[in-house]
Amino acid sequence: MKTILGDLPEFRKNPIKLSENATLNGSRIGEIRLFTRFYYISSDPYILRSILLDDASSWRKGPEVGRLSPAMGEGLIPAEGERWRIGRETLAPAFKPDEINHGLDVGADRLLRGIAHLASDHQTVDLHKLCGHATLVMTIQALFGCHFSSEYIEHVREAVAEGHDVMTQHAAQVVPPIKSKLSSSYRRLMRAVEVLDDIAEYIYYHMDECKMKKALMQLEQLLGYKAVRDEIVTLLVAGFETSANAGAWMLYHMAEKPELMQRLRTQHECVGSKPHEIAKQPLFSGLVKETLRLYPSAWWFARTANRDVAFEERTIPKNASILVVPWALHRNPRLWDAPNTFDPDRWVEKRIPQDRFSWLPFGAGPRACIGRNQAMIELGILAWLATSFDMLPLSGDTRNLKPEGGITLGPPPGSGLYVKMAVHEPQYGRLAA
Ligand code: HEM
Repeated sequence: MKTILGDLPEFRKNPIKLSENATLNGSRIGEIRLFTRFYYISSDPYILRSILLDDASSWRKGPEVGRLSPAMGEGLIPAEGERWRIGRETLAPAFKPDEINHGLDVGADRLLRGIAHLASDHQTVDLHKLCGHATLVMTIQALFGCHFSSEYIEHVREAVAEGHDVMTQHAAQVVPPIKSKLSSSYRRLMRAVEVLDDIAEYIYYHMDECKMKKALMQLEQLLGYKAVRDEIVTLLVAGFETSANAGAWMLYHMAEKPELMQRLRTQHECVGSKPHEIAKQPLFSGLVKETLRLYPSAWWFARTANRDVAFEERTIPKNASILVVPWALHRNPRLWDAPNTFDPDRWVEKRIPQDRFSWLPFGAGPRACIGRNQAMIELGILAWLATSFDMLPLSGDTRNLKPEGGITLGPPPGSGLYVKMAVHEPQYGRLAA
């Protein structure tokens, strides 16, 4: 029986399980109560298509995402209305594939040598940290085209990871956090924000002449420097932890499956030599999609109703919030065969649901992820990089490893995702050069 706290104790213990239970019991819209706050919850393709696309104007992002604002300000993720429209239209050209792919290829080459250096000592590697560094190198190179030193990128990684960590704590508090200098968590948040402010300023004034620079300068003219700062921080935070988490799970599965690794290696010969071209090859792209199916980094996000919204089974009242849960959607046995099995070939052989709203790692509709193509290629490149190495999994069997459900889907608390890495022998000559 539930107490006055409702589902809060279970939410604190295991939010992923709670969301699964609330949505997989057959009802298209479930509900949970966290103390006094009531949420609807859905992982049904029909309902999600309506909320995110067909009837998107009846919904807004709502109060949950406001908890990200201390770091992201009015960046694209928390932005609403006219501020969001201007930001999205201005930044969109900078995410065109031509611009992104070149930066990703340059970043990939630099990374391969860096990882080879690490692997030459047969070191134990924390995949989350490795993927964090790798995705940040690629993100910075693709979006800002600048040639920062590895030390500076590591400084950015630490700052963004700290920002993400404090925001996770901040967002998880059911009662709004106290904004007082006496509160240690608020002071920690403010310190993290100051470092991110400096990084945004440094990047803006040192980035190459590229489409992103043009877009940010246009934004400064339209909305002032604060908008530039907010978008740079938002892009770093949004693009970093999400890709790093998915990358770590993907590489760990590769380490666990030598036969998959071997098949991926043989794909190189079939396609062009550019990393972004290899990343688009069907088995690589199936591997990335399957990773994002089982480990959708943004495992939940929310919408709030602008008016009463009627569905067949119930009406969501104005100002009520609904949680969209890709984690549960992607593991729904009514949509997916063997939903808990990691099977990249289901994408190659098209053994997937017909309704595209059954797979939503990047959301959908007007607020879909602006970096989704970049993220897919980054992850494909990470998989390609990993084929140059032999990896021995050290954290146990993936069937027993449960992700941590914070703002994003992190590595398993306690065990993490560790491997022992060595250069794959046939690559030795090339990488030692
Ligand atoms: C595996 C990696 C990623 C995942 C799983 C992911 C997931 C998502 C999801 C689900 C949303 C929509 C949230 C909602 O509707 O409330 C979103 C939005 C967004 N993402 Fe990503 N993302 C990833 C990578 C990236 C990258 C690489 C960037 C940029 C560098 C990025 C930037 C953004 C931005 C700016 C938004 C807000 C878009 C808007 O509202 O107009 N993301 N992301």
